[in-house]
Amino acid sequence: MSKSISGFSKLSKAQKIDWLLETHFLDKKNAKRILIQYWNSDDKLQQLHDEFIENTITNYYLPFGIAPNYLVNGKLFTIPMAIEESSVIAAASNAAKFWLDRGGFKTKVISTTKIGQVHFMFQGDFETLKTYFNAIKPQLFEDVKSITKNMQQRGGGIIDIELKDKTKDLKGYYQLHASFETLDAMGANFINSCLEQFAETFKTRALSFDAFSSEEKNIQIIMSILSNYVPDCLVRVEVSCNIEDLNEDATILPEEFAAKFIQAVKIAEVEPYRAVTHNKGIMNGIDAVVLATGNDFRAVEAGVHAYASRNGKYSSLTHAKVEHGIFTFWMEIPLALGTVGGLTNLHPLAKLSLEMLGNPNAKELMQIVAVAGLAQNFAALRSLITTGIQQGHMKMHLLNILNQFEANDNEKTTLIEHFKTNVATHNAVVEALKKLRLTNYD
Ligand code: MEV
Repeated sequence: MSKSISGFSKLSKAQKIDWLLETHFLDKKNAKRILIQYWNSDDKLQQLHDEFIENTITNYYLPFGIAPNYLVNGKLFTIPMAIEESSVIAAASNAAKFWLDRGGFKTKVISTTKIGQVHFMFQGDFETLKTYFNAIKPQLFEDVKSITKNMQQRGGGIIDIELKDKTKDLKGYYQLHASFETLDAMGANFINSCLEQFAETFKTRALSFDAFSSEEKNIQIIMSILSNYVPDCLVRVEVSCNIEDLNEDATILPEEFAAKFIQAVKIAEVEPYRAVTHNKGIMNGIDAVVLATGNDFRAVEAGVHAYASRNGKYSSLTHAKVEHGIFTFWMEIPLALGTVGGLTNLHPLAKLSLEMLGNPNAKELMQIVAVAGLAQNFAALRSLITTGIQQGHMKMHLLNILNQFEANDNEKTTLIEHFKTNVATHNAVVEALKKLRLTNYD
């Protein structure tokens, strides 16, 4: 068992690596070589990455790819995606091409409100607490003026603060439930700073509120934090076409395609096991763009999946229908994103991604990200109800398997050609490579 260490963060990068090698690796030379291999030769750029987090010892690459031909509200976009999964960008590109000829994606931001809460305990009379809250509310706004000034000048800020009685769920538990408009910022720092000040004001002013008993004066703040559940920061994305235009795939008639597609979506609407995978496919597109643009994909993931369960049962985020001969496929999804602040302007690739997208504001980015999600789901369902997912997936995964067995360029070319007409499974690829090597050896 390895020993614990104190004061680790104070060590230099070289010392941290030495400790790591000593503690966890037998082949220290090899481990060190791998870590150093990923250092950037530009010291300034490396330092920037080092300083994003604590204890950075190297960089972790993900492929950064692009999916062109995205027609969104009549405008063409090339979407940047950071993702390791082989088939995601290929699927994104196929879906973009499919809808490019059929009117493209239509999007609309429905709302942009974000939520933050001060969670506190209060032992006493709710009516008196309400009176105190109403009396103190202007002061809550007043005391955050230095934080909200700039945001307010740009048209954002605090929308409202409400007092919520949560004692039915937990004895003595109440909240200051605040709503915010954070414009082009994701807003986490802004919201959390406001909340911490609300908490301070709310607690201190209670000490001199005459109507409170001495016990009531002692409001206990538990925590102040934004919520990543953002059901009122919502964007809608839709594609539609005449049913007869669903004619891309020669193996299936448009009517049958539409019917199977709608059933596949309905299955995800009623069956949580399927819904999770269905939505995971949507997140393949969403996370990749969120990451490429320097946004917080964990926040987005948490919020989206909570939204998918908002009716008490985990369900599909997308929906599909045919009405009057028109096939429509759509999704409404909560996305709290920023195009200023955080890493968006700090990480050179995030900045480049935003420039690639025409430097969108947060609302525009919400729409582009939602498009990537719907497109990915369309591509997945299209494969699932026709060829099956493995054909396309294994075609893209083929190179990973070949790389795993250290295939050379000639072997890769031969086997890529071979698997254009043969079914690629892991086993089939390994066997074909073995056979090729034997033939070449003979
Ligand atoms: C794989 O990453 C995503 C899919 O499983 C999504 C789906 O099943 O809809 C293909």
